[in-house]
Amino acid sequence: MRLCVALDLPSGRENLELANRLKAYDIWLKVGFRTYIRDGKEFIKELKRINPNFKIFLDLKLYDIPNTMADASEEIAKLGIDMFNIHASSGSIAMKSVMQRLSKYPDRPLVLSVTALTSFDNDSFKEIYEKDISTKVEQFAKMSFESGLDGVVCSAFESRAIKEITSRNFITLSPAIRPFGEDAGDQKRVATLEIAKNELVDFPVIGRPIYRDKNPAQKVEEILKRL
Ligand code: C5P
Repeated sequence: MRLCVALDLPSGRENLELANRLKAYDIWLKVGFRTYIRDGKEFIKELKRINPNFKIFLDLKLYDIPNTMADASEEIAKLGIDMFNIHASSGSIAMKSVMQRLSKYPDRPLVLSVTALTSFDNDSFKEIYEKDISTKVEQFAKMSFESGLDGVVCSAFESRAIKEITSRNFITLSPAIRPFGEDAGDQKRVATLEIAKNELVDFPVIGRPIYRDKNPAQKVEEILKRL
């Protein structure tokens, strides 16, 4: 398992301070679209200046027509980040176009797809996709695997089933992790590190339990010991 810390603090300055406190660790950092819209490419460069070995996951969740997605993915590849994501519901033609376009980059970033946003409950999900979340997540995962993606964003509780129908090496990245049973906040289906491990999650994504802790570096250290 590789720890991915969500840089979700309200300003660029605070996020950089957090990255500074964590610079001694071999971790991934998740940059979301709020931060990216506000602080842009320069922010990515700043993170790499703090520690060139930080791995960056750019969480922009692309969704558009295939050609536009492939164009955007190529621009992302030029940023020198390590992983980004697109929506599986953009369809297999779009996903294949992205992978095809990135194939000319030997060091291309990993590409994950978003299956179902964890903010959906089953009823609101069905309103759009007309199937239960669990059924659709598996279908999206299979589609993503067959389109050549590297993995999916999913709940920890879906990780094992997804690997069973795709491959053990198909990456699963899961938010809503409360390492030692901390406060869930607005997350619904939270899992501890222990559960994430048992469910074969490759990347637990952790935000508040780290940046709200009075000693984020110590918290990261405790988490890394358990991975
Ligand atoms: O603070 P917390 O650990 O709940 O942060 C989880 C991170 O994962 C946040 O950045 C949130 O936006 C993101 N995320 C999520 N559920 C998804 C996709 C991303 O919680 N389905």
